[in-house]
Amino acid sequence: MLSIPLLDLRRGFAEIEEEVLSGFKEVFVTQKVLNGKNLLSFEEEFARYIGTKHALGCACGTDALLMALLACGVGRGDEVLLQANAFIADFEAIHWVGAEPVFVEVDPRTFGPDLSDLQKKITPRTKALLLVHMYGDPADMDEILEICDRFGITLIEDASHAHGAEYKGRKVGSFGKVACFSCGPVKNLNALGDAGVLTTNDDEIAYKIKYLRVHGQVEKNHSHFPGFNSRLDELQAIILRAKLKTLDAKNEKRREIANRYREGLSDIPELFVHPAPPPYKKSVYHRFVIGTEKRDELVKYLKEKGIGTGYYYPIPLHKHKAYLEAYGKAWHLPQAEKLARELVAIPMYPELTEEEIDYIIQAIRSFFGKG
Ligand SMILES: Cc1ncc(COP(=O)(O)O)c(C=O)c1O
Repeated sequence: MLSIPLLDLRRGFAEIEEEVLSGFKEVFVTQKVLNGKNLLSFEEEFARYIGTKHALGCACGTDALLMALLACGVGRGDEVLLQANAFIADFEAIHWVGAEPVFVEVDPRTFGPDLSDLQKKITPRTKALLLVHMYGDPADMDEILEICDRFGITLIEDASHAHGAEYKGRKVGSFGKVACFSCGPVKNLNALGDAGVLTTNDDEIAYKIKYLRVHGQVEKNHSHFPGFNSRLDELQAIILRAKLKTLDAKNEKRREIANRYREGLSDIPELFVHPAPPPYKKSVYHRFVIGTEKRDELVKYLKEKGIGTGYYYPIPLHKHKAYLEAYGKAWHLPQAEKLARELVAIPMYPELTEEEIDYIIQAIRSFFGKG
């Protein structure tokens, strides 16, 4: 029996060990730990990679979301549209800036917001759309940009699952007024701890974020506006620079694995399989999900076969106590609830071997009696 964890972080680090350790050694010697050359270089390299004018490192994706909303002037009295299958940090950022989340139904074809429900949820108070490119699949950008433009809604992207994903040849993270990326340990572009980065073409937004992350200190010891302590340190920047070099190749490997999974699983009628995006979208498969009413039994079966799985996310945002206690509103979002109940992520990382991929496919097939 093989043992295949949902994610094996050890496999991706050996190849960058030498480069990273020599960078670390320099930091140990110089003790230039913050605001050093690696942060600046990472920001330049990431902005070039995404195709934006600016990239700004920060401590984590959660901080990136909070700073993005603040920089866009989202606050008390505003409503922010958010697909109900997003991560809890998306809700939290909206909450902590004093705005109110308005939950949007999910389109199971894209895992992004259902565009007809999205339009129904727009009110005169709608200030922004916080759009998550879920599981690494780019959302329907032409339609979303058109809606935001028509209603004067600020688009903020959460591309934490989607480093390198493309829509019509353009990288996600370059469409919104500002975009947020978590580079936490499990992400496609991952640090060895918490890390985040924001991208924007807007000079004013970049200025605001640059200083929000250092207590608003535009001048030394003089805070011009209330901010945070949210810096990306040199050690994490060294790792991210090394990992950025191979990101495209690794994302390509993920796409190959996704195709293998689809080929191996698409003839099982009871099984929903992560849909293939249209040719003008390039997913980076941060997660590969399948869905079934018998999800919990399938998970147990796979565990017995040594295969790890994960739920992303088992409780839709409108059902969290954190939301209900603060806002207490009930929402009718059947599709989001069904996905939360039925979806499960199976192992998806570029270092999976052929043998492991076949083994996973065979195990799922045998659960459904297709051995
Ligand atoms: C979609 C999404 N947004 C934001 C975050 C928050 O990022 P971080 O954990 O770096 O704070 C995550 C983390 O998992 C995420 O998946």
